[in-house]
Amino acid sequence: MLIKNLYIENSEHTSDIRVTDGKIEKIGEDLIPLDGEQVCDYAGKLALAPFIESHIHLDTCLTAGEPVWNMSGTLFEGIECWAKRKDMLTRQDVRSRVSRALRRMAGKGVQYVRTHVDVTDPDLTAMRELIELREEYKDVMTIQIVAFPQEGILSFPNGKALLEASVKMGADAVGAIPHFEFTREYSVESLNYACELAVKYDLLVDVHCDEIDDEASRGLETLAARALETGLKNRVTASHTTAMHSYNNAYVARLMRLIKMSGINFVSNPLVNTHLQGRMDTYPKRRGVTRVKELTQAGVNVSFGHDDMFDPWYPLGAGGMRDVVFMGLHVCQMMGYEDIINSYRFICQNAAKTLNLGDGYGIREGNDANFIVLDAKNWYDCLNNDAVVLGSYRKGKLISRGEPSKTEVNFA
Ligand code: FE2
Repeated sequence: MLIKNLYIENSEHTSDIRVTDGKIEKIGEDLIPLDGEQVCDYAGKLALAPFIESHIHLDTCLTAGEPVWNMSGTLFEGIECWAKRKDMLTRQDVRSRVSRALRRMAGKGVQYVRTHVDVTDPDLTAMRELIELREEYKDVMTIQIVAFPQEGILSFPNGKALLEASVKMGADAVGAIPHFEFTREYSVESLNYACELAVKYDLLVDVHCDEIDDEASRGLETLAARALETGLKNRVTASHTTAMHSYNNAYVARLMRLIKMSGINFVSNPLVNTHLQGRMDTYPKRRGVTRVKELTQAGVNVSFGHDDMFDPWYPLGAGGMRDVVFMGLHVCQMMGYEDIINSYRFICQNAAKTLNLGDGYGIREGNDANFIVLDAKNWYDCLNNDAVVLGSYRKGKLISRGEPSKTEVNFA
């Protein structure tokens, strides 16, 4: 198959992509169709490597209002709402919601998802179902599962054993939530344990790290130190790190050295943390998003995630990554031209590094023919006009297709 006239990653000239046996065989200008070759001409549209959702909770998605709405919008009322909803959890319920969410995400150009799954559940209901779904969807969606101890490792009954059971069941990454543990000692011990498990089972690490406005919440330094000392390094991700927003600058200057030495990745979730953080403030109210601009300038890898989709903590979200980037650029004050035109990297290349996808990700000859085509010429226009995903290709197969949106205005 020959797919013609694509602006690959904001390039100035269009290129064609020849797909053979699910692989990108050749990329070049004005490739001539072979005898009998199927041709699809996009007439000058943007092609990107598929979007990557690097931080979401699929087990809670699409539950907003069930059985009650979070009226205050706070994290704590969200936890109360989820405690009621958690009682209703069945494997069929998880299957039905996750399947709907994945279909929506596929239509928005997402092909890779890292989902956190709550394992502070003695039955591990959601974990069991997600592991089955990961296998069932693997041809259209790559799913990584983080065993996420929502209510703590040391502070939840049997927390350590549940986490290890989840790992043995087949999780891809070990999670932790140090700021939620009862004490600072537990916080440190939980991070040590998560890294020990990752080393023992050869897994990745992704920690809900310091998702709080408390400037004294310093799980990040422990996580970075363990990442360095264990050699896990870029296999470790610090998600959220919203307390870093409130750290004093002298401390951050010292911390940044360790962060760079450790090689860890960061995930920021600008939609949800803008909504949930700063809730204890009067005025001024903190934005509560980590220091994306400064980390990026220091050469640290940062990707963006949606975090929650229509659930007790975040009552909006339709599965797309565009709004995540849009909000992230605003709240992190990254609105220069170069910042905007290159911002797809937060949900493409940077997220690929977070997920440790390796060289197999990206529009390159020899790679699987995984890419998306958007109804715009470059990412700036795409972001600004919320362009439709015209096609999402997975190993050369069209797994979703969209039509350009159309509006008629009836005045001159
Ligand atoms: Fe999260």
